[in-house]
Amino acid sequence: MRKKIVAGNWKMNLDYNEGLGLFSEIINMVKDEVTGTQEAVVCSPFIHLHSLVQMAKGYNKVAVGAQNAHQAESGAYTGEISAKMVKSVGAAYVILGHSERRQYFGETNELLAKKTDTVLAHDLRPIFCIGETLQERESNQYFDVIKTQLVEGVFHLDEAQFAQVVLAYEPVWAIGTGVTASSAQAQEIHAFIRIEIAAKYGQEIANNTTILYGGSCNPKNAPELFAQPDIDGGLIGGASLKSRDFIDIVKVFN
Ligand code: 13P
Repeated sequence: MRKKIVAGNWKMNLDYNEGLGLFSEIINMVKDEVTGTQEAVVCSPFIHLHSLVQMAKGYNKVAVGAQNAHQAESGAYTGEISAKMVKSVGAAYVILGHSERRQYFGETNELLAKKTDTVLAHDLRPIFCIGETLQERESNQYFDVIKTQLVEGVFHLDEAQFAQVVLAYEPVWAIGTGVTASSAQAQEIHAFIRIEIAAKYGQEIANNTTILYGGSCNPKNAPELFAQPDIDGGLIGGASLKSRDFIDIVKVFN
């Protein structure tokens, strides 16, 4: 059966010492309080990655990820970080296609397909984000938008590659707004995503794909969201910056 994952996305928050302090609280709480088979993933800024991986050694329910990686192997791309570098410090995941990167950094589905290839070539698991804007929801285009993001972003992969992908449905209108999708709205899209995966890769791969929900997820609304049959965990922004809140969301799967 598919893995349950709660992933924190720290975005551009926390200096080095603040990040290590928060992570230390998180790993201790996971050790003391998490009783299920779920995995807690922390996606930190690059600066923290190496130290967090070292701290997480011996904690098999905790993994570390980056929030981006460049599509090229290496080269003259001042200021960028390659997938090989991320892998070399021991991280396991890379968030790709977050709506903030699509919006502020012009990342397109075409570019994200290349990034996905590079990340997979280095044995990292992409947490690939998809989701519609408010305008796309209100104009009833959201199924088309999500399907296009899937087709252009990840459906070029072969079966073995796709099996490494974690998907995250993050409606843009729910990110950082305090307005979460209702559990019915989220379930409707997650079920749609799984049907599209089944049509492309078959039912078994669809059943084994972890699909996370993201957007104003917190300890209060997580139990109802995660109880939906096609929601396999969360991608958590604001609430992942507080150890108590983050662990309480992770513990929904205890
Ligand atoms: P919030 O949980 O702060 O809404 O952010 C969600 C998100 O963008 C996670 O990637």
